[in-house]
Amino acid sequence: MRRALVVGNWKMHGSRASVDALLGSLTPAVADATAEIAVCPSYVHLAQALELCAGTPVAVGAQDCSHMASGAYTGEVAADMLSDLGCRWVILGHSERRQYHAESDDLVAAKLTAAIAAGLQAIVCVGETREQRENGEAEQVVGAQLQGALAAQAGLQDLVVAYEPVWAIGTGLTATPQQAQDMHAFIRQSLAAIAGIDAAQTRLLYGGSVKAGNAAELFAQVDIDGALVGGAALVAEDFQAIVAAAG
Ligand code: 13P
Repeated sequence: MRRALVVGNWKMHGSRASVDALLGSLTPAVADATAEIAVCPSYVHLAQALELCAGTPVAVGAQDCSHMASGAYTGEVAADMLSDLGCRWVILGHSERRQYHAESDDLVAAKLTAAIAAGLQAIVCVGETREQRENGEAEQVVGAQLQGALAAQAGLQDLVVAYEPVWAIGTGLTATPQQAQDMHAFIRQSLAAIAGIDAAQTRLLYGGSVKAGNAAELFAQVDIDGALVGGAALVAEDFQAIVAAAG
């Protein structure tokens, strides 16, 4: 049995005041949720979010981490620093990191190794662009991203994979439930071929314009175990409705 998981990726949004307001509304609203819940604010709001989420069902994670353990890497944040702070989760390989920061599959793999060593639970993101889908390359692209990030890793039993078609992120275009299910089934089948992964137990999240209004039909698909939510995670009642749909 895979427990539903709903994760909010706040991206580069927020202020101390908005974090207070959002978590002040969200944490009581999800107190009785059956789904597992996490929020991933900006690094600078992590300590504040951890304080506000203490004693609630909402776990906290980061949106990235360094592939290096420590040292002279100006501007980087180590996985150990995140776990030392109390973070449980880290998002890796988000398409915005791949697109704007030239993250390769090799770099994502190195970050995953660092995250696992630090005891963080990683959410590895994969997904094709619109052009790749139109060219019929979606499965090939996603398969290569999985292989590139996951092959030869140890400690993958708690891995979470998020399928986020790039063309659906922040665009209001959601993959249809069937499109998402087809890719999730392909991902689960691909994971089964990678050593050290229990594919049947690995949770697969869908991400890309998930809203209160489309969450239930996505979660009804057999291989969709939850969501990685961007814009709708910034509004407490919208995120809470997605969490409720997952329960
Ligand atoms: P939106 O929900 O805003 O489309 O963002 C999805 C996403 O990128 C989550 O990581």
